[in-house]
Amino acid sequence: MKFKVPIFSVKNLSFIVRGQKILSNISLEIFNSEYVAIIGPNGGGKTTLIRMLLGLEEPTSGEIKLYGKNIKDFKFWDKIGYVPQRASHVDASFPATVQDIVNMGRTSKRGFFSRMNEKDKEAVHDSMVKMGVLHLKDKMVGTLSGGQRQRVMIARALASKPEILILDEPNTGVDILSQKNFYALLAKLNKEERITIVFITHDIGVIADDIGRLFTVNQKAIICNNPKEALSCEEMSELYGIEAHLIHNHKHEH
Ligand SMILES: Nc1ncnc2c1ncn2[C@@H]1O[C@H](COP(=O)(O)OP(=O)(O)OP(=O)(O)O)[C@@H](O)[C@H]1O
Ligand SMILES: [Mg+2]
Repeated sequence: MKFKVPIFSVKNLSFIVRGQKILSNISLEIFNSEYVAIIGPNGGGKTTLIRMLLGLEEPTSGEIKLYGKNIKDFKFWDKIGYVPQRASHVDASFPATVQDIVNMGRTSKRGFFSRMNEKDKEAVHDSMVKMGVLHLKDKMVGTLSGGQRQRVMIARALASKPEILILDEPNTGVDILSQKNFYALLAKLNKEERITIVFITHDIGVIADDIGRLFTVNQKAIICNNPKEALSCEEMSELYGIEAHLIHNHKHEH
């Protein structure tokens, strides 16, 4: 049997700022082709945890490994597509077209100063098609609606053909129909292209059927291996004050 190395492996991670505990003793693993959602209250530490997994913030203590390698020795960052929280908030006068923004997704693959080759162009085109923004390619990104801009940011992340896609609350302010299409798209990327997805969201009810595991982060992390088991998640959520019963309600809507 082949031993499965987790993509992310976190052990006893803590983050303390000026005496305030932000994250406390977090241990978790995320495996290839998983679809994991992270929920938790505002200020619970979700974004901080993700930033640590990406080496953007250093933990006070604990260990982070990527593909079995200590994060300090990890070099294959273009395997990971990351759409930060509020990534799509750009000024109306921001001087870049949609195409320019999505092109940036190829920068790390080809080096900043080299020209886009056919493969780059194809990847950019494909990811714009996938995210339904191809028709917007010549528009200035600052003139788009919030939802359209979010799609562009995700297209940029997909352009690098990542193995892992990390999305930090990409749906704020997006209409319900667009959200539904977006969730269907994520599920498809996960199922058909085997892209590992880590999705921070408050919208857990809607994606409960798609996700494999659910992590609740509120200083500590609780891992729910079967998010459809409403009871266990409800217990978990009571403990942490999260409305995970939404999962339960959602299932009863049908
Ligand atoms: N470098 C830092 N210095 C000081 N405080 C920090 C730092 N990083 C995070 N924090 C604090 O840690 C807490 C957790 O923040 P974080 O952004 O991770 O929460 P979150 O779960 O993503 O919240 P939200 O749902 O609102 O996005 C906040 O109180 C924040 O102010
Ligand atoms: Mg956050």
